[in-house]
Amino acid sequence: MSNTYNIAVIPGDGTGPEVVAEGIKALEAVSRKCGVHFRFKEFGLGGDQYLNHGILLPGEIMEELGTMDAVFLGAIGHPDVRPGILETEILLKLRFNLDLYINLRPVVLFPGVETPLKNKGPEDIDFAVIRENTEGLYVGSGGFLKKGMPDEVAVQESINTRKGVERCIRYAFEYCRKRDKGSHLTLCAKTNVLVFESDLWYRVFKEVHKDYPDISTDYQNVDALCMWMIKNPEQFDVIVTSNLFGDIITDIGAVIQGGLGIAAGANLNPEGTAMFEPIGGSAPKYEGLNKINPMAAISAAQMMLEYLGEKEAATLLLAAIKRVLKDDLKSLEAGKMGYGTKEVGDLVAGYVAGL
Ligand code: IPM
Ligand code: MN
Repeated sequence: MSNTYNIAVIPGDGTGPEVVAEGIKALEAVSRKCGVHFRFKEFGLGGDQYLNHGILLPGEIMEELGTMDAVFLGAIGHPDVRPGILETEILLKLRFNLDLYINLRPVVLFPGVETPLKNKGPEDIDFAVIRENTEGLYVGSGGFLKKGMPDEVAVQESINTRKGVERCIRYAFEYCRKRDKGSHLTLCAKTNVLVFESDLWYRVFKEVHKDYPDISTDYQNVDALCMWMIKNPEQFDVIVTSNLFGDIITDIGAVIQGGLGIAAGANLNPEGTAMFEPIGGSAPKYEGLNKINPMAAISAAQMMLEYLGEKEAATLLLAAIKRVLKDDLKSLEAGKMGYGTKEVGDLVAGYVAGL
């Protein structure tokens, strides 16, 4: 019996639809090869739908997404929509309402890909960031006092629950155990200043560690960790951290692994559904030009195969991705790849068929 999966596709804004199309092309190539099947259902969420119809993320769509095996997202963000609307009402709402409490972002430098770090290669850059994805400074708790007046006050609160912190840290230990690197987990926080929030993270981290004596750990303040990610990235295996710190450090992660053209992430509810996305954003200036790099979206599709437990398919697609990166692309930057968006997708699909 072959497996069939229901995949929700949200192409979204800007170059989202173009890169998602190549991700689907890769999945279809894998499907022909491995007997894993997909039923794709597209949802037209994003800036255009908001501007034309005032629709953001209706409740019935949210419910339907929750019943799918996975969600494949392109990008959310439109130049004509004020920052914050689409992000909070679509992307963050998806993360919160589907309780996708893990944001898993691998930072891996593949052979053939250039890193801006001097004297570092693929053997040095191979770790994963596990970012808490439903709490912290992202919950939208706070408000203004006397908005617009000279003595205006703005409060933005970071909410951290023991349950939320513990399930994230526990997932990180479990994930660390499954990786075949060094089984080392780093907690990233700011205990010297955030004496409530980081204190909770630190105590829970110590407590949960007792259940994982086979895993070594260390603690780093977020500012120092940013420095070490650049200076000695080889020390990292898995990093676990809160929502905003994770957001920030994974941009450093993306750039040291070759840039936004390759960085992908998974928003996971280990007991429910999951959403996969290229980290890059909607890149409106490249929209419709067949110039954007689809490798991040194809990598997101590859993570989806891993998550679905389709090992053979995931391994096959990973091999094709690596081959294109090593043998074909001149650069990962939009317009400089030596190929167009569609042609990069064709290369991946071609290798999948031939492997
Ligand atoms: C990311 C993005 C989002 C975030 C934005 C678009 C809301 O930067 O996925 O990293 O801050 O989480
Ligand atoms: Mn970000």
